[in-house]
Amino acid sequence: MYQYTEEQIISMKKVEATRAERMKNLFPRMSAEEKEKVLKENHPDYIESAYETLKVGPNKGDKVLHELADLLQGKSRVLGKRINLKKPDYDVDVLVIGGGGAGSSAAITAHANGANVMMVTKLRIGDANTMMAEGGIQAADKENDSPSIHYLDAFGGGHFAAKRELLYKLVTEAPDAILWLSKLGVMFDKAPDGTMITTHGGGTSRKRMHACKDYSGAEIMRTLRDEVLNRNIPVVDFTAAIEIIKDDEGKACGAVLMNMETKEILIARAKTVIIATGGAGRLHYQGFPTSNHYGATADGLVLAYRAGAKLLYADTLQYHPTGAAEPTQIFGALVTEKVRSLGAQLVNKDGNAFVYSLETRDVTASSIIRECKQRHNGVKTVDGEGVWLDTPMIELIGGEGTIEKRIPAMMRMFGKYGIDIRKEPILIYPTLHYQNGGIDISTDGQSGVENLYVAGEAVGGIHGRNRLMGNSLLDIIVFGRNAGKYASEKAKTVKIGRMNLDHVKAFKKELDEAGINPVKFSPQLLPNYTRQPSI
Ligand code: FUM
Repeated sequence: MYQYTEEQIISMKKVEATRAERMKNLFPRMSAEEKEKVLKENHPDYIESAYETLKVGPNKGDKVLHELADLLQGKSRVLGKRINLKKPDYDVDVLVIGGGGAGSSAAITAHANGANVMMVTKLRIGDANTMMAEGGIQAADKENDSPSIHYLDAFGGGHFAAKRELLYKLVTEAPDAILWLSKLGVMFDKAPDGTMITTHGGGTSRKRMHACKDYSGAEIMRTLRDEVLNRNIPVVDFTAAIEIIKDDEGKACGAVLMNMETKEILIARAKTVIIATGGAGRLHYQGFPTSNHYGATADGLVLAYRAGAKLLYADTLQYHPTGAAEPTQIFGALVTEKVRSLGAQLVNKDGNAFVYSLETRDVTASSIIRECKQRHNGVKTVDGEGVWLDTPMIELIGGEGTIEKRIPAMMRMFGKYGIDIRKEPILIYPTLHYQNGGIDISTDGQSGVENLYVAGEAVGGIHGRNRLMGNSLLDIIVFGRNAGKYASEKAKTVKIGRMNLDHVKAFKKELDEAGINPVKFSPQLLPNYTRQPSI
């Protein structure tokens, strides 16, 4: 049994007492005006003091969070070092930086297109947010649905800010992404007749979330990793990219690499480069806990920025409504939205529902923050406060056994601490989950720097200023394959000129002229609380 405080036990009893009534009368959806108000007053993206204006680089004049500004305007790890670019250690057609779902999809596709591909990753292949994804992947492949409905859901959910041509690609190529994954061996949840089981996510008007229980990302990553290894695509692990190399025409043509253990510097020459380095949760923006893996430190944004690529919507982050608020051992860990898709409600300390459970993520997270900070209706926890997620409702709605069958990872995660989510609600609070913004790309996946491609969470603009559940596992596949296809095609025609790091020196000059004397090395590579590489 988990040791709840007396106050928590009293509050939990109130949740139990109101359950039957709450099940009969669902909390109503918000109007557009109500949504705007709750966002403006509570969403962390609106806290002006958390932001500063960039003084150098392609986004000079734009606002980003302090933590990101420190890195974008940070100290290069190569300056002052003797870097011999003349004798590369690796010479390939396509260099993929990052070992998650987007990088693997890109590498597989480029390899299938006949390219000589190499992956480099600062950790190991699969150590990535993809592996940690739970709820599922969206695709409009059922009769009552269509890519245009998917588009409308995502466009509205992202505040009409998505780059239309990127979102179009995402939704129209989604059904094929599911087929591709299925053919590679992903075991999606299916009904006895073989049809895919699909559920709603926040902000979806159709049930289009395909899942592998609540291990969707792990199952997808397992399959992609197998395919990379079966194809004998070389993977250089525990090796970070610390700078993009350009040629004398300003085109990307490789990367400076650093072995994370020995600090040895290695040079990779490549006709095209794909950045697939993922997100930034481990920067813990504004002090938030995170659902992200240890490598999520915005490295790709830094590499691309210093090389001259523009970022899009780098000021907007996603705080997933339901991170674990207690037990403290799993503080910030993801409690999948699927828990709410299956019927669990968000409930305050008095046992009252306060938001429709499947509003879009930014609205739901803001409503939770409002309930705690503005209305003082939160439940005190070891690390702060939270609200209840009434998980026993799932079994009452879906029948006994639903939790074990559909969300076994959640049952186990809490079960380890003596909490049976079938019988008792759990405490949650928003957790830093996703980088909505990132590197600006065109539909071929290319950034503003020629021959530098981007895929996955490092891209900005696919989802606008807020992403719907399940569109991230989708975008790593669609845009991973896309980048792999175009980068390998382009590599067939590329002639590399003189390799150089002049842009790094020029960036340093800009910093000097702006009076910035950075103390922090970037890319950061690991969270602040781990042992840092000494260069
Ligand atoms: O709640 C979740 O399972 C997260 C899904 C996502 O970010 O797409």
